[in-house]
Amino acid sequence: MLRGYRFARPFKFQGTSLKGSAPAAAATNTILFVGLFIVASAILSSFWVQTSNFQIGSSTNQTIVVSNKFKKTPKPVEFPLNCSIGNQTQTCPANYPTTFSNTDELDPSPNPLCPDYFRFIHQDLMPWKRTGITRDMVENAKKTAHFRLVIVKGKVYVEKYKQSIQTRDVFTIWGILQLLRRYPGRLPDLEFMFDCDDQPVIRSRDYQGLNSTRVPPLFRYCGDRWTRDIVFPDWSFWGWNEINIKPWEGLLKDVKKGNERIKWMDREPYAYWKGNPFVADTRKDLLKCNVSGTQDWNARLFIQDWILESQQGFKQSNVADQCTHRYKIYIEGYAWSVSEKYILACDSVTLLIKPKYYDFFTRGLQPVHHYWPIRHENKCRSIKFAVDWGNNHKQKAQAIGKAASDFIQEELKMDYVYDYMFHLLNEYAKLLRFEPRIPKGTTHLCSESIACPANESPKKSMTESLVKSPSATDPCTMPPPYEPRALAKLYRRNINSITQVQQWEDKYWENLSKQQQL
Ligand SMILES: *[C@@H]1O[C@H](CO)[C@@H](O)[C@H](O)[C@H]1NC(C)=O
Ligand SMILES: *[C@@H]1O[C@H](CO)[C@@H](O)[C@H](O)[C@H]1NC(C)=O
Ligand SMILES: *[C@@H]1O[C@H](CO)[C@@H](O)[C@H](O)[C@H]1NC(C)=O
Ligand SMILES: *[C@@H]1O[C@H](CO)[C@@H](O)[C@H](O)[C@H]1NC(C)=O
Repeated sequence: MLRGYRFARPFKFQGTSLKGSAPAAAATNTILFVGLFIVASAILSSFWVQTSNFQIGSSTNQTIVVSNKFKKTPKPVEFPLNCSIGNQTQTCPANYPTTFSNTDELDPSPNPLCPDYFRFIHQDLMPWKRTGITRDMVENAKKTAHFRLVIVKGKVYVEKYKQSIQTRDVFTIWGILQLLRRYPGRLPDLEFMFDCDDQPVIRSRDYQGLNSTRVPPLFRYCGDRWTRDIVFPDWSFWGWNEINIKPWEGLLKDVKKGNERIKWMDREPYAYWKGNPFVADTRKDLLKCNVSGTQDWNARLFIQDWILESQQGFKQSNVADQCTHRYKIYIEGYAWSVSEKYILACDSVTLLIKPKYYDFFTRGLQPVHHYWPIRHENKCRSIKFAVDWGNNHKQKAQAIGKAASDFIQEELKMDYVYDYMFHLLNEYAKLLRFEPRIPKGTTHLCSESIACPANESPKKSMTESLVKSPSATDPCTMPPPYEPRALAKLYRRNINSITQVQQWEDKYWENLSKQQQL
């Protein structure tokens, strides 16, 4: 099922090759594809030069200067992937800009404040605010790390320690390389450890008292209340190749179109879930709520058969086509689930079964405003009530669905995913108390060293998610940290909303049982 990767020699990843290296036919296809790509981009870029009225600086120039006398947002010079024809072990091209001249000719409007969830960056880095981050601390985070990533003078170096699940590591590194294409030369030197597994491991209780000044900084995809791991956007924003999920930017557009096709009122008035129940007991528990001949909890639940779907080209699993019900259930798996953003994007009411984990953006969600809270125990009763409530309060229910999809389309668009990565890494780098150094025996990585030797399917995701030019604007402005009191108030408000829903729910079941007694 998985296609193997081959990497350029300087890149130390051995890849997840299952059946040897790519066959000759695939290599020929790749060459053809790359050839077409270069031709197409050459045509496109000359098209731009001929039809636009603004001057574009030469691409051999290290700094792009774009004059925008006629348009507010000029189309900047694009840098397609540059894989030299006939050679898969491509070195990094020298012509990508390393700086960007942000002159006053460029968009003069001040940068908007980043979304509120960026404020949790301060929260995540709190353990090192007073002490800073020493080399010892970073080395201590190596125990479970899959790789160390170093940025020195704007270039990325990776030291790999072990194989990650699927291609999580490759697409995470790919994302960071795209961040550097977007903001070339803008990040300071830094060095960090990344763990690609699901569950957080840096337990707060192991770092109390004297140990509180020795917390290892470890990056991963999610966190929980009991741990101090630093959360970072997961690989799926650049595509989840193994299950045919496209990169986020294109997918967001597909979902938006899908939402316009089937309006909320025309959707099935039930709660839908489709997924793999075997990864967690709570998911098996959820299946008990499925409709049957004798009971209807308003839930329509389905098991995702990945093997069957991969044989059928994943036609049934296109997330953009899964917005067919008024209510969609989100339930965690082994840890946080990548599916949350796809569910929230649907315009349906997300029925969120009480989660244990958070990822980088979910701390910005408010119960009842963005989603409907569902109890972890007694799921079926909770779901039954939620759907009845929504079908009896259609305007309010639609507003919840809309608030979530607006949040996803606006505050979680790819621009902000990159800005979150930028600010997190930038704030992290400010805390370093040592000079980052290039790991021995590594050569710097660029998009070409990963994408050029990759097989057809991952290469498609990479080509699609490639950042083609430096950003014409600065990152959004980082908001200040939460005052402890403001944070406490935020948590209290969320808990109050959840408690309110639980009270309505209890009342609903009380009334139902009274009616049955009459
Ligand atoms: C870079 O571009 C600027 C502006 O177009 C130009 O003045 C300068 O001569 C260029 N430098 C090189 C090395 O091409
Ligand atoms: C491909 O690249 C390698 C190293 O960069 C070089 O030694 C080799 O000659 C190249 N082969 C071709 C056909 O260009
Ligand atoms: C690709 O990179 C090589 C080496 O830096 C450079 O000579 C060539 O002009 C680049 N090609 C394109 C299409 O940018
Ligand atoms: C849930 O019920 C529906 C309708 O009867 C059925 O098609 C579906 O397969 C059931 N799901 C599971 C997981 O049994």
